[in-house]
Amino acid sequence: MWRPAQRLRWNTEPGSWPSPEQAKDSLLFTPLRVGSLSFSSRIWVPAMVPWRASIDGFVTPENLEWYRRFAEGAPGVIVIEATGVRDVSSGALLRISDDKYIYGLSKIVEEVNRASGGRTRVFIQLIDFLAIKRRPEPSDFFSRFLVITDRHRENLNLLHADDAKVRELLASLPKQDLVQVLTPRELESLDMGYRERVTDINLPHIKELPQKLPALFARAAARAKEAGFDGIELHCAHAYTLASFLSQLNTREDGWGGSRENRVRLPLEVYHAVRQQVGMDYVVGCRFLTEEIITGSSTQHDAEFFALQFAQAGMDFLSLSRGGKFEDALQPKVKQAAYPYTGPSGYECMPQYISDETGPFGRNVRSTNDIRRVLRASGLCTPVVVAGGIYDFSTAESLLKTGVADFVGMARQSLADPDWAEKVRTGRGSQVRLCRYTNYCEALDARHEMVTCELWDRENLNEPGITKTGDGKRRLIPESDKKLPAIK
Ligand SMILES: Cc1cc2nc3c(=O)[nH]c(=O)nc-3n(C[C@H](O)[C@H](O)[C@H](O)COP(=O)(O)O)c2cc1C
Ligand code: SF4
Repeated sequence: MWRPAQRLRWNTEPGSWPSPEQAKDSLLFTPLRVGSLSFSSRIWVPAMVPWRASIDGFVTPENLEWYRRFAEGAPGVIVIEATGVRDVSSGALLRISDDKYIYGLSKIVEEVNRASGGRTRVFIQLIDFLAIKRRPEPSDFFSRFLVITDRHRENLNLLHADDAKVRELLASLPKQDLVQVLTPRELESLDMGYRERVTDINLPHIKELPQKLPALFARAAARAKEAGFDGIELHCAHAYTLASFLSQLNTREDGWGGSRENRVRLPLEVYHAVRQQVGMDYVVGCRFLTEEIITGSSTQHDAEFFALQFAQAGMDFLSLSRGGKFEDALQPKVKQAAYPYTGPSGYECMPQYISDETGPFGRNVRSTNDIRRVLRASGLCTPVVVAGGIYDFSTAESLLKTGVADFVGMARQSLADPDWAEKVRTGRGSQVRLCRYTNYCEALDARHEMVTCELWDRENLNEPGITKTGDGKRRLIPESDKKLPAIK
């Protein structure tokens, strides 16, 4: 993963933790109503893909165990991982692209409700993504993947040569010559692996996305509601389809790109289709970026505009993330796919403890604050979720008190200690296992391996009945906090 050149090391400093009475009086533990739903606290566990689904997208016992363990700590909300609305193969990621997935997903809802004693709301993040291929062996790229065109023949001065001859010559060229012969896009496919973009409107399935996606998301939303989820989060953040429509890099000239108004059209149409499907009293929100942090990308002014559009359209919450794009991803190894959290924008999304003068904590706070203020200045009271490097009570409480956000997201901190909320609520904050922001978990995610936390995955490996990775070296969930009072 990319890290800032300064290489400054940062440690967590949680300050003081509240007594049970102080926690009770805090904003963080004050219940909140959003639309028809009440929340027991403002602690939000953002979506985290754990790579535990079956290869064809079904919920597994490992998924159930994972979400049960988070729910035991009774946060206000758990957002279930990015779940695909289209039936495309994507490894061990959940899908909601067919009715056959409803049963398994309903079991997650049951587990969360039971384990949290009904104190945790459970949302599901709905995602669409475009194709990305692994970085090829150069020999495979030239012999099979590259489509030979007359432009290659002209550039090589081989006007009448057959494809085989052109391929053979291309494969023998050094990099500096290839740069003259291949297009930037072809070079990217060679160096990084082929990646579709929303601007590839020469491809019929990409051109048709605006016509196809609203119905796909709406059907997925209906399934989520049937499975019992309390709400839906539309994934309009990071490197995925809806975020790519919002991006300033979306230069489509067919009315779905270019101006901000055109770029926000598809996410809004998706939202309206979903809303029509699930009704007015069901919670529907979205996650999007305060800033993309890549060259030529959308800025916070774009995000302020999108926030207003989403809130005016009637979304029930806006969850703000940052960065996480393919455009600046590091080059993957041959036969591996590029990953959007490996470059500078990825760093902004999941900041690490080796950082710069700003440090890894709360890097998205200022932008989130500005966006929420724009909303409030327009008379819109849509709840806002902040996330990124937040781990302690004092910060969480002050973010709420100063009006930066209405919910405080803690992804990696919840992974390090799923009992955060319950420990803090019961005056045992000093027992919280603090995330070190090492991104060991994220490295597993990047390799599509089952995600665990280095602070607990080697503990008590001989404990009877625990589930472990296939090699037996890591446990899949942390030990239960046996000292927790029974859930009433
Ligand atoms: C293992 C892992 C998987 C993630 N998967 C998702 C995801 O499915 N959807 C999403 O919007 N963000 C995802 N994220 C990003 C987190 O939701 C969160 O925005 C990010 O980790 C920053 O918050 P934190 O500092 O509290 O961890 C993931 C993060 C991690 C560490
Ligand atoms: S592995 Fe654990 S300590 Fe490291 S960043 Fe992930 S959750 Fe935090």
